[in-house]
Amino acid sequence: MSSKPAKPSATSKNISSLLQEKRVFPPPSEFSARAHLKSMAGYRKLWKESVTRPESFWGKQARQELQWQRPFKKVLQWKEPFARWFVGGQLNVSANCLDRWLGTATANKAALIWEGEPATDGKPGEERVLTYAQLHREVCRFANVLKRQGIGRGDRVLLYLPMIPEAAIAMLACTRIGAVHSVVFGGFSAQSVADRIQDSGARLVVTADGGYRRGAVVPLKKNVDEALVLQGPDGERLAKSVEKVVVVRRCGNEVHMAEGRDLWWHRELEYVTPVCPAARMDSEAPLFILYTSGSTGKPKGILHSTAGYLLGAKLTSKYVFDLRDEDVYWCTADVGWVTGHSYIVYGPLANGATAVMYEGAPNWPEADRFWRIIEKYRVSILYTAPTAIRAFMKWGDEWPKKHDLSSLRLLGSVGEPINPEAWMWYHSVIGGGRCPIVDTWWQTETGSIMISPLPGVTPTKPGTATLPFFGILPEVVDDQGRRVPKGSGGKLVVRKPWPSMLRGIWGDPKRFKEVYWSEVKGSYFTGDGCRCDEDGYFWIVGRIDDVLNVAGHRIGTAEIESALVSHPSVAEAAVVGRPDELKGQALVCFVTLKSGQKASADLKNTLRNHIGKEIGPVAKPDEIRFAEALPKTRSGKIMRRLLKQVASGVEIRGDTTTLEDLSVLAKLSAAED
Ligand code: PRX
Repeated sequence: MSSKPAKPSATSKNISSLLQEKRVFPPPSEFSARAHLKSMAGYRKLWKESVTRPESFWGKQARQELQWQRPFKKVLQWKEPFARWFVGGQLNVSANCLDRWLGTATANKAALIWEGEPATDGKPGEERVLTYAQLHREVCRFANVLKRQGIGRGDRVLLYLPMIPEAAIAMLACTRIGAVHSVVFGGFSAQSVADRIQDSGARLVVTADGGYRRGAVVPLKKNVDEALVLQGPDGERLAKSVEKVVVVRRCGNEVHMAEGRDLWWHRELEYVTPVCPAARMDSEAPLFILYTSGSTGKPKGILHSTAGYLLGAKLTSKYVFDLRDEDVYWCTADVGWVTGHSYIVYGPLANGATAVMYEGAPNWPEADRFWRIIEKYRVSILYTAPTAIRAFMKWGDEWPKKHDLSSLRLLGSVGEPINPEAWMWYHSVIGGGRCPIVDTWWQTETGSIMISPLPGVTPTKPGTATLPFFGILPEVVDDQGRRVPKGSGGKLVVRKPWPSMLRGIWGDPKRFKEVYWSEVKGSYFTGDGCRCDEDGYFWIVGRIDDVLNVAGHRIGTAEIESALVSHPSVAEAAVVGRPDELKGQALVCFVTLKSGQKASADLKNTLRNHIGKEIGPVAKPDEIRFAEALPKTRSGKIMRRLLKQVASGVEIRGDTTTLEDLSVLAKLSAAED
């Protein structure tokens, strides 16, 4: 591979000329000198070893990286698609993240630095720092609160919280006693909370009176109250498994507290001690369920288990972020998504790192909020999403330029393909041309990073996640599952099991097999399209199923369609994505109305709000278009390919002979309010 050293550049003006040079960015030498892994030859050797003798590789890593209460007997039991890793072993996740640092110099180091959203009057946000010893204490206390409420091994606990330390505390407290947490992002609605409670059978909910977002209070507790009374089609309460609700006082707004059911977090702490032994958990004990959208039906409860997940999160944090003792590491994701699980909580803490957690939005009260935080805490590693980077580009270089960003040494990207322009801007304007960028490809299902450069080792090119992590064997294949030649596009699959892989879909092993293990025989199917270049670098193209990636959030078209048709005025709906400069993809809904219903701007608004209510503000579409009919094949399938083209405003291409009614297309293109 040819590699020209990249010159640092300070502005976004010359980005397009830089891009035309198709540069390869070698790892900075001062970086390589100190990195955990130092050379490409070293990486290749270790990777080869890890995929040719995976059990020996993973066994060694698991013994080295994790603290075991009982050693495992067997590294892997694989009966496709069901994996059991580190069989016979026992350990505890919270003990690996916290107890192991007690009695070491790390005990009094900051584990979490929390920055609250600034008050509306422009005053800086609140600040809370928890050392490892303090976090340990808080986790033990809350674990005792859970125990006092009768929560124990295997019980599900739903967390619906803002980005406050209590979110991490509650997650770790669950792991301490063997309870299974399911975190629900605060941007989901009462209905979504109720659906997730019903599916997971959660016995307890932890929430807050509210959370701050751009100066407004998000009424989390109110949503929970609503969720707890919602009924399913059979008239039964969806959330009938819930016995208790623990409420964190965050905003001080008035909330209803149901006698005998609702408890204040701070009050409950008065009844407990800070001593709570860590439960001995089997390697394969369920650790958490996280709901994510698929191409059909309701969101799936992705199940992760104890040892394999923790090993994946720990090892990737160590190598991909090259974590060192002195780092201040900041992942800007919300703990409601998998990135927050693996790279705010479990990965960094298992490595004894200092992690920053921020409650609010990147542009509140002004567009330099992130850069202020970096300057204030001397953040050295920043991990964020392309959608945020593109927004920062739009807001202008003057915002980052106001701040001293010289503490940064490494930049990360996650959630969607990063377009080369955004990559270059991130590199030049934020990284000052000196920080390597790790573009990390992975999924809720994979648990931890699968494809990514290793800083100090991998030469990078804007727009590619580059090479697989140790033990990961991805391939780009055709419809028959054969590897496609270099340079050709295909489906991205993973050929071998890995420790942090999902263990299943909660309560639905059949769907697990169908979705992930039926598309390409003997392989895990990712749902992504990909191309491998002449250097073996993986270029992710995006989803090839009916899942959209809107501002880094995964949204199933089927979910939105069923939310739309549940509205009394809607007859049919089809949802597609169109390219969007900021969000990557924007959500466009095509809707036909029941007879007697009139298309209007008001109805559009009503439908947007209806989706907000059914799924959550996170899923509100960018555009709703009314049509007289939807284009369908003779067998009645909606022709999404055509709708995508209509939504993007491009000329209709391709074979249209299977259309039931060709005139439908013309009407659609012209469809207005
Ligand atoms: O399409 C890929 C995209 O995000 C999907 C996974 O979404 P989710 O489970 O919500 O997890 C997001 C955070 C890990 C993938 O199937 N994706 C994620 N990271 C990248 C990406 N696409 C391209 N490049 C990435 N670095």
